[in-house]
Amino acid sequence: MTTISPVLSKPIGTVSPRLYGHFAEHLGRCCYDGLWVGPKNQDVPQTRGFRQDVVDALKAMPTPLLRWPGGCYADHYHWRDGIGAPEQRPVRLGLSCGLAVEDDNGIGTHEFLDLCEMIGAEPYLAGNMGSGSVQEMCDWVEYCNTSRKTNLGLERAKNGREQPYKVKLWGVGNENWGCGGNYSAESYALEYRRYATMLRHVDEKAELVVCGFDDHWNRRLMETLRHHIGLVDHISIHRYWIHGGPGIDFSEQQYYRLLEEADDTERFIVTTQEILDGVRGTRNIGIALDEWGVWHPESRPWGPDNAGTMTDNYEQACTVRDAIATAAVLEVFHRQCNLLSLANLAQIVNVLHAPILTNGKAMWVTPTYYVLQLHAPHVGAEAVRTDAYGPVLPVGGKAVTATSSRKEGQIAVTITNRHLSEAQEINLKLSGEIVSARVMTSDAANAENSATRPNRVQLENLEVKTEPEQLLFTLPAHSVATVIVAS
Ligand code: AHR
Repeated sequence: MTTISPVLSKPIGTVSPRLYGHFAEHLGRCCYDGLWVGPKNQDVPQTRGFRQDVVDALKAMPTPLLRWPGGCYADHYHWRDGIGAPEQRPVRLGLSCGLAVEDDNGIGTHEFLDLCEMIGAEPYLAGNMGSGSVQEMCDWVEYCNTSRKTNLGLERAKNGREQPYKVKLWGVGNENWGCGGNYSAESYALEYRRYATMLRHVDEKAELVVCGFDDHWNRRLMETLRHHIGLVDHISIHRYWIHGGPGIDFSEQQYYRLLEEADDTERFIVTTQEILDGVRGTRNIGIALDEWGVWHPESRPWGPDNAGTMTDNYEQACTVRDAIATAAVLEVFHRQCNLLSLANLAQIVNVLHAPILTNGKAMWVTPTYYVLQLHAPHVGAEAVRTDAYGPVLPVGGKAVTATSSRKEGQIAVTITNRHLSEAQEINLKLSGEIVSARVMTSDAANAENSATRPNRVQLENLEVKTEPEQLLFTLPAHSVATVIVAS
């Protein structure tokens, strides 16, 4: 039996909606085909070019933040290619992570920002440092955000949008230690200083994201920026979990290894904060984990520098195990909600750790989608410490872990049974009327949904026995549940 106690007297902080962000890169079938079929498509129902089934699923996920257009793609992207009449837009080489495709720029600034409005997401734009210029990025900010009648403001209005978009989040490059230009930390820091200074002149409200990497790079980067710390609002870090073996045919050891990697994300966040603390003075700098997720070897031997070794398009199995890893890291996000300022799952449709998959007319959601839905009550809520005491896993560590939050008179508790093969009895120390209790479970940890079997994994109602001051239920092996109680 595991006893779970939300410690309501120990609030941690607010779970910003930005921690539930997503990432759409022009890579493989994420943007084109996954999100976008184009406004002329008559086979797949669409709204202004975006697949209606995907838009509906995104609204229900929820999707409070969306980063675009890359990733590595961002440092090749020239925003002017994606504005104006679609038929007059240039066809460029779409370049990211070793893939080169014909890119007709069908999704440009207006289309992307309109999608964000459709699904209720805050946009986060990644600018081009690798092959762009300071002026180009300043112009993009002005084009999107100015309310003045400058040439760029008037051009935006002529292209259909009179009111400024007011995009707050701007990435200054992406992975500039690698695909974004192979800078050294020091040379990137100096370049960043120039970009950020000029961007601030254009829009002082823009929140600028500097590109971090590992501890070594981050130390040197921040040390070089120490005397210009006011130019940094967030530091971007990425974490892919790559040691879980095959996407489907994994061993017990590999199953647990993936979960350990997800947990270890917390150590990276805390270490990054320690580095920031050494230079930030009284300034608050957010940690932007703007790419995270599972990266199975079938998608490609890991890392952008392995370009040329793969034959595929970054698509991989998305199983229950990946969803359990998602639940594990969301516990980390809640615990570290005062350090993390935003986070983006990579990527939103079809590519890597996707919550939504498509194939032609078919669309289905993955177990990770359901785990994100189970976490919806935590978005914008106040996270509270949650203690769990009970059995341990064969590899050590707790079999059952949990996270809780409260919002608008309700307490939501999400409980994860990480055990590969054993169900767990749960005693949740809460009283009050149950608003809902649902569980994501399935017959196997390597189960996935597919076009032909879209509901193999789904959400079910969880049976809960109510006793004074406690709620009793059984969590199946490898499952995640959320119980919401009116307080
Ligand atoms: O998400 C795929 C790629 O992974 C991104 O383009 C890059 O930023 C990272 O290396």
